Formats: sequence, structure tokens, C-alpha cells
Amino acid sequence: MAENRGKVLSVQDLVINFKTDNGILKAVRNVSFDLYQGETLCIVGESGSGKSVTSKAIMGILANNAIIENGSILYRGENLLEVSEDEFYKIRGHRIGMIFQDPLSSLNPIVKIGKQITEAMLINSDKLKTMYNDLISDDLIRYKNTLAKMNIAITNERKKLEQLEAEMEAREGRTAGQKAADRALLKEKKAAFKTFEQETRAKYQEEAKRYKAVLTETEKKAKKQVAEYKQQVTEAYRAKEKELKAKLASAGEAEKKQIQAELTAAKDDFDNKLRITKAEAKRRALKIMEEVGIPDPERRYNQYPFEFSGGMRQRIVIAIALTASPEILICDEPTTALDVTIQAQILELINRIKQERKLSCIFITHDLGVVANMADRVAVMYAGKIVEYGKTDEIFYDPRHPYTWALLASIPDVDSKEKLESIPGTPPDMIYPPEGDAFAARNRYAMNIDFREQPPFFKISETHSAATWLEDPHAPKVEMPRIVSERIKNSLEGSANE
Ligand SMILES: Nc1ncnc2c1ncn2[C@@H]1O[C@H](COP(=O)(O)OP(=O)(O)O)[C@@H](O)[C@H]1O
Ligand SMILES: [Mg+2]
Repeated sequence: MAENRGKVLSVQDLVINFKTDNGILKAVRNVSFDLYQGETLCIVGESGSGKSVTSKAIMGILANNAIIENGSILYRGENLLEVSEDEFYKIRGHRIGMIFQDPLSSLNPIVKIGKQITEAMLINSDKLKTMYNDLISDDLIRYKNTLAKMNIAITNERKKLEQLEAEMEAREGRTAGQKAADRALLKEKKAAFKTFEQETRAKYQEEAKRYKAVLTETEKKAKKQVAEYKQQVTEAYRAKEKELKAKLASAGEAEKKQIQAELTAAKDDFDNKLRITKAEAKRRALKIMEEVGIPDPERRYNQYPFEFSGGMRQRIVIAIALTASPEILICDEPTTALDVTIQAQILELINRIKQERKLSCIFITHDLGVVANMADRVAVMYAGKIVEYGKTDEIFYDPRHPYTWALLASIPDVDSKEKLESIPGTPPDMIYPPEGDAFAARNRYAMNIDFREQPPFFKISETHSAATWLEDPHAPKVEMPRIVSERIKNSLEGSANE
């Protein structure tokens, strides 16, 4: 099961606001989730719920007016919210690839497809460097993870302290006595923080030191190994070159051409062992084009984006994302702009590639209908928050949040293709988000508390939780909408009869 595998990405307590002319817009409000090796996590929610902002934060491509208020995104030992531009450049599109809704916007209209596919490969073309990085990767990540965890723990505590101080100062009409009490409390908390910081550093630094020692050893070995490899291939080439040149000197006119060709081939082979050459990049590109189902890749290689249909363009975008051999693929509504039949083909393609390449995938959609075929786990998002998490079966057969019910009710029926029940009302204004459960105003099951207080996550199972007051032990028992329970019943019966 997915949750027994390693985490490849961990998003914690992410809070993202935007400065706008009308005020501060709260786009992402305390989002946390983990992505496990080899799984597909679907993030589903209506337009405006914060799905794209979350994925852009992972990619480091947020708009300029974004303010990251809080949180961490841990990936390979880096908090992606804190890495330098340079570092991000290496990660973005390299280890983490992204596919957007509109394939046109991610392709350059005036550059031939082939060039766009090979470009990324030629940037990271030094094979010796790649070899070295691969050799030290595991130990480097383990070491960096330790440091990142330490920094995140300390930063979180510091932020709490800063928040407390800001809250105290914002409180109006404090008497002198209250102010003194606040100051005393703050002093106490600051001292506690200092201790926490020291202890945390001590705790992690011990571990970090051990990992660093291992890393240094691995680096030494890797350097040696890479140097030996280089020497080996260089010597082999020199020997071959010497041999061929000697032959050439004594060769007759008829043989000369043949030997010249062999010399060129030997040189190409040598080049190929050290770096990705243009010729090799092209070979790889054609192979990937075939992998993503582009017919006649040799001819297509020299065409421009406008010569491709929407579906084929999306295949090109996927091909480009794959050239860097990413381990995580983020798909943000990759089929929304396509017609239904093409949509199904692209979904199938993404599923196949994910399997074959053992990728971990974040799949974003507003359409719960496509989720069933894609997801291992689902996070339902509403108004900047995740309101329900679970394995796909748990979300489809045992949904708990009224918003999830509403989404399930609005999936078009497979037979009639009709939308059964669109969700009444509109999402809240995120400059003034509601105090309580953001869905309350549209929720016919809402209780008084829903309008006043945000619900915590209630645990339904080890893998399933929902942030709705209906799960509070004191809440009255309610039935989910009939249309949803009927559907669940029907599909359970359907699968039992198969
Ligand atoms: N650059 C921006 N400036 C202001 N508001 C933004 C910006 N980008 C996104 N938003 C707002 O953030 C919220 C979440 O947007 P988004 O993540 O794109 O939603 P979706 O779930 O449809 O992908 C929306 O209210 C959107 O209007
Ligand atoms: Mg979006």
C-alpha cells in the first residue's frame, strides 16, 4: 500500500495569500499533505479553491503578489519554499515536472517541436556530473533532510512566538497591567523558545554530523569512481584512435574512406559516453515522442506547435516533461481544454506513463468524475482548505464532508451523461473568508457551529479524515443526500455482480 512506501514530497501547513487592490486574498489556508512513492494523489475541488496556487508553490512559480505566510514543502532534503533560484532551477522541470491545463501556453509557438523537446536534455548534458550526482544522491538527501527538518521545526516555533507577539500588540485597549502581564508572558515564551532551539539543534546536529561523515566518504568514492570511468573511456578511445590512424597511414585508397568513417564513429561514441550529444538528444526525443503516442515522430520533429491538434500538443507537453526523467509529475487539469474522447486518451496516457516510469503523481481536477480512474488517494479542497482526505474508495463509498457529497452528486451520470445536481450557491469571497466552515452557507446540513468555528479534522480511519462538525460525537446523525447514497449502493451492487 502506498502509505508503507517512502514519502517523496511533504507539504505542511501551507498558507498563501495574495496582495490585491481589494485587500489580502487568502488562497491557500493551512494545507498539508504527503505524496508517497509511486502513488497518484488527486486534488479535487471547484474552480478557485486553491489547487493551482498549491501546485505553483511546489514548482516555485507563484505570481509576484503572492505572500507565503507559513508552511514548508519538503522535497529531497530541501524546503522548496526556501531554496535559492539556482537550486530551484535544477529541481523544477528536472526532478518535478508539471503539465498545465492549456498546452499552448507551455509551448513556444515559433520554435520547432524537436528543438523544444531536446532543449532540456542539452542543458543537463554532462553525463559525468549526472553520474556523480546519482552516486551521492541518497546520502546527500538524508543529510539535507535532517538539516531541513531541524530548520522547519525551529522556524515553526519562532512563527508561533511572532504570532503571539503580534496578537498581543493588536489587542486594543490593553491596560498598563495587561501590557506588563503580556510582556512577562512573552519573556517566558522567548526563554522557552531559546531552550527549544538549543535542544532541537543539539538533537538534529548529532544526527546531521553522522550523516555528513557518511556523505563525505561517499563523495570521495564517487569522485574516484567517476574519474576512473573517465580515464577508462578516454584510454579506450585513444587506443582505438591510435590503431585506426596507424591503419590509415598504411591503407590503400579504397580502405581509407572506411577507416575515416570508423574514426568518426569512435569519436562520436567517445563523446556520447561523456555527454548527451545533439544526435543522442534527437534519438531520445524521438523515442519519447513515440512513448507518448505521437505517430510519425521523425516528420513531426521538425514541425511547429500550430501544426498539431490540441490532444497532440498535450502529448508534446508531456514529452517535454518526461525528457528530464522526473520522479514527480504534477498534472494541473491536463484535460480540461480537450474534448471528451481526447480527454480519455490523455488520461490513459498519463496512467500508463506513471506505471511504466514508476512516477509519483499529483493530479489536479475540478471533476470528481475523472478521479476514480486516476487516484490512489484523494484530497478534496474547498476555499483554500483540504476538507476531506482518503483513499479513493473511502471518498467514493464512504464520503463524510457535505462538500464531498455535493461533488459526488454533481458527477454526470455515466449512462445519461447528464449532470444530476449542480452545487447551489457560489464559493465565498476569499478576501473575507467565512469564520467557520467555509462551505456552511451552501450546506443544507449546516449547524450553528458551522458558521462560527472551523472544524478540525476528525479521523474516520487510519487513512481517512474529514473536517466537518458532522463528525463531532455531539452532532446529530444525518443521512447523506439520497442521490449519493443511491449511487454508492448501485455501484457497490454493480461491482459485486461482476
Ligand atoms: N496572482 C493572483 N493574485 C490574486 N489572486 C490570485 C492570484 N492567483 C490566484 N488567485 C486567487 O487565488 C484563489 C485560488 O486560485 P487557484 O489556485 O488558481 O484556484 P483553482 O483551484 O481553480 O486552481 C482564487 O481565488 C484566485 O482568484
Ligand atoms: Mg487551477
